[in-house]
Amino acid sequence: MSEIDAAQYRVAAMPYYRPVGNETELYEAAYAARMPLILKGPTGCGKSRFVEHMAWRLDRPLITVACNEDMTAADLVGRFLLDLNGTRWQDGPLTVAARIGAICYLDEVVETRQDTLVVIHSLTDHRRMLPLDKKGELVAAHPDFQMVISYNPGYQSLNKELKPSTRQRFGAMAFDYPLPEIEAEIVAHESGVAPAQAAKLVQMAHRSRNLKGHGLDEGISTRLLIYAGRLIVQGIPPAEACRMALVRPLTDDPDMQDTLDAAIDTLFG
Ligand SMILES: Nc1ncnc2c1ncn2[C@@H]1O[C@H](COP(=O)(O)OP(=O)(O)OP(=O)(O)O)[C@@H](O)[C@H]1O
Ligand SMILES: [Mg+2]
Repeated sequence: MSEIDAAQYRVAAMPYYRPVGNETELYEAAYAARMPLILKGPTGCGKSRFVEHMAWRLDRPLITVACNEDMTAADLVGRFLLDLNGTRWQDGPLTVAARIGAICYLDEVVETRQDTLVVIHSLTDHRRMLPLDKKGELVAAHPDFQMVISYNPGYQSLNKELKPSTRQRFGAMAFDYPLPEIEAEIVAHESGVAPAQAAKLVQMAHRSRNLKGHGLDEGISTRLLIYAGRLIVQGIPPAEACRMALVRPLTDDPDMQDTLDAAIDTLFG
């Protein structure tokens, strides 16, 4: 039963992560205290990459679950399956993580229905237990187990808030896009684009981020800047790369596209 192949969840090579502040130390302290963590911040700012890096650094297996509103408690905890010999229990990802002492990362957790999310409560307080009600088993979490959840605050609707009783089981770390020099360093590293071009891409992102709340839900993310950099490395002219990787994905509003395209032309034209 406990002979789950944990090796498959190991992070093999060091995921590149450029620290922005003391987040690595904070995470290490939280992990040493086995404190469950919320990572919040806008899309494409490095939350998932950070968790991958920390799992590697702490030498823990990482089990990631992309949450959605149709997810049930059974999808997390496990269920009986029918096979030729009758029924067989199959652990869900949360149960596997608790058994093997993985870091369990629930991405986009606010998408999950609240009645589903309560299954994590007993694992994220002093009990560190997971009851498998249907199976009649109480799983004590492995001492190395840690729960991490993430979401993008801001543009979700009110009924997609985490309950206080969920929130208050976690410590939280807020992420944002890094300072321009650091973000340019990341973009250059991840895309291979020259530092001067990376710096211009970051400037473009800042212009769009200033429009947040004025017609844009979110500005251009670090992830999109890396896409643009990769197109430039492929030989696409920078202005065209920016339209394809930065502007068209961001908005369908023609006026907003014009505004952003004009900014591209002043930067790269
Ligand atoms: N500090 C950083 N160090 C290294 N790479 C980074 C950093 N921040 C962002 N990145 C890069 O940006 C990309 C997007 O980051 P990531 O996928 O972690 O975002 P996210 O915050 O999880 O977004 P989402 O909320 O949409 O899932 C990564 O693939 C990585 O290349
Ligand atoms: Mg992510």
